[in-house]
Amino acid sequence: MTRVFNFGAGPAMLPTAVMEKAQQEFLDYAGMGASVIEISHRSKEFDAIINAADELLIELANIPENYKILYVHGGAQMQFSAVPLNLINRTSARKAAYIESGNFAKLANKEAARFGNIEIVASSEKTNYDRIPDLDPSSINEDHSYLHITSNNTIYGTRFQKFPETGNVPLVADMTSEFLSRKLDIEKFGVIFAGLQKNLGPAGLALVVIREDLLEHAVPDIPNLLYYKTYADKHSLANTNNTFAIYMMKLVLEWLQEQGGIAAVERQNTAKAKMLYDLIDQSDFYLGSAHPDHRSTMNVTFNLANNDLLDDFLAKALDGGLYALKGHRNVGGVRASIYNAMPLAGCEALAEFMREFERSNS
Ligand SMILES: Cc1ncc(COP(=O)(O)O)c(C=O)c1O
Repeated sequence: MTRVFNFGAGPAMLPTAVMEKAQQEFLDYAGMGASVIEISHRSKEFDAIINAADELLIELANIPENYKILYVHGGAQMQFSAVPLNLINRTSARKAAYIESGNFAKLANKEAARFGNIEIVASSEKTNYDRIPDLDPSSINEDHSYLHITSNNTIYGTRFQKFPETGNVPLVADMTSEFLSRKLDIEKFGVIFAGLQKNLGPAGLALVVIREDLLEHAVPDIPNLLYYKTYADKHSLANTNNTFAIYMMKLVLEWLQEQGGIAAVERQNTAKAKMLYDLIDQSDFYLGSAHPDHRSTMNVTFNLANNDLLDDFLAKALDGGLYALKGHRNVGGVRASIYNAMPLAGCEALAEFMREFERSNS
């Protein structure tokens, strides 16, 4: 068996040790003679799994006591509906502010506009989202039920280096492509949500971290399984949840802890990204797509100065075991998604390939 270095944006690679553990336990979980996907979500064994996931998250992300951890059906885009349905009634104006820093931010504000009055308070659409737009702080006011940001823009390779100060207005962050990749002050946020499929586990489920007092502002006719309070009251088990995804996430969290926690993983992520950005900056052959001040450490986007070479670049990369490097159609070029699970060796192999490809095509 040969495993490639998988640079796909998501579903993305998971740590090999996690996959091996899941494989090893798959047929017989904890001596039960049944698989983890065959046991009840109400069994004591699954209860231990979900409790361990909670505890690991609290420890790793330093989640304060007045926050709830929810495992919500439907992946990240379901949260584009759940956030306004749960929060828009926080103010009588039913207004919410959105920073539009990419395509997912746009999808989020379009969906929210079905439920309230949405204001785009900053946008970088004009420069094809190559940066995080500047926010005029005076554009956020007490009428806003919340401010929504996409903290890391998967398609464009940008991220917020500093988060907006919003005073009493809750900050809601879509952290799908970066949660647990860097240290955060959770208290700055009212809600953080993340689809699991990049840094946390399999697709189809979202992790939501919400400040407790924000559970009380839902619209009256909110569907039960989009209502955050249902999840908070029932420990995310009002119905049969995606037990396998929660189990996989628990394994990923254990792996993160073994790596030395978020601070250690952040150092590693910074080193991995720097290796690629330094190479891009030192060459005229490769051109970085994102503004240097707004670069992501999770998704590195770049073009070839001669775009005619792109197909050959991608084909030769694949031959060399470097998989899924094609950029998103909105940006073109190359995108290397280097989430927590991408080892330093993967970035070294890509950097070596890029140098060699430049040499042979210059
Ligand atoms: C930042 C961000 N938000 C939302 C999504 C959508 O996730 P899902 O497919 O789980 O709805 C993605 C997927 O790539 C993403 O990168």
